[in-house]
Amino acid sequence: MSSRVEEIIRRRVLTEVEKYPFFQRAVVALSGGKDSGSLLHAFIDTYPNKEVIPVHLNLGIKGFSEASECFAKMQAERAGLRLMVFNLKRELGFTIMDAERLYPKVCSVCGGFKRYLLNKIAFELGADIILTAHHLEDFLVRMLKSVLNAGFEELARFKTYLPRNGNLIAKGRPFCRVPESLIVEYAFLKGIPFLSEKCPIGRKENVERFRRTVEILARRQSQKLLYFSSLTKLAEMLQNSGAVTMPELTPCSSCGFLASSEICSFCARMKKIRAFLGRDQAP
Ligand code: FES
Ligand code: ZN
Repeated sequence: MSSRVEEIIRRRVLTEVEKYPFFQRAVVALSGGKDSGSLLHAFIDTYPNKEVIPVHLNLGIKGFSEASECFAKMQAERAGLRLMVFNLKRELGFTIMDAERLYPKVCSVCGGFKRYLLNKIAFELGADIILTAHHLEDFLVRMLKSVLNAGFEELARFKTYLPRNGNLIAKGRPFCRVPESLIVEYAFLKGIPFLSEKCPIGRKENVERFRRTVEILARRQSQKLLYFSSLTKLAEMLQNSGAVTMPELTPCSSCGFLASSEICSFCARMKKIRAFLGRDQAP
């Protein structure tokens, strides 16, 4: 018999996923943490007949990435699946720590790399959708930041489901209405192994401040859900108002994936990092 926590999570995952068009093969981004580990298990429990490929990106962050990969592997094994690992150093010749030397605000660069690589991997695997484990508070923080910093374009782009566009695979966030506390309960309840350590090089004070603000504003889960609905409606209004124009996407001249500039930010940054490391290593 399933517990109350399992039931809530299953219902919320179902409510979200049922909004997506039919899909059969899903890539689940597995970091080794509690959120994605729980998503993998909750998704498989809810949709046992879908094909799921867990993918882990090893970013080459000393100490942290080895442990993350190890936990991601355990989570996949526990779900009876084989983990696919993409190792940045091996595949691209540099790590996120190398990138940090060139981009001190490496978090957003790292986020962009992860989005690009997951899309590329999912595309090559013939997947229909990429599922990520962003939860309710992640979205509240992101939307609140956009509103207060006049980031209206970002808010207008906000969606919990992004349909496929050419070689950009569909993206879904089945945990968007699941609070973090419930995920923690679920992970313990289901005995999901996870790494609780946070990334040591990410400087996220700003995010933490917004996170605390969300906790002060909304002490109860129901309030958080209410704020989430209000901000989602605001994002939809912005999308429909025509006041914010969405960038036109064209194939990147280097990799061919759709991007808003002639050469996509991934290719441009990768080129810079390689040149930087090349100069660094030159005799
Ligand atoms: Fe990307 Fe920490 S995981 S900077
Ligand atoms: Zn490119």
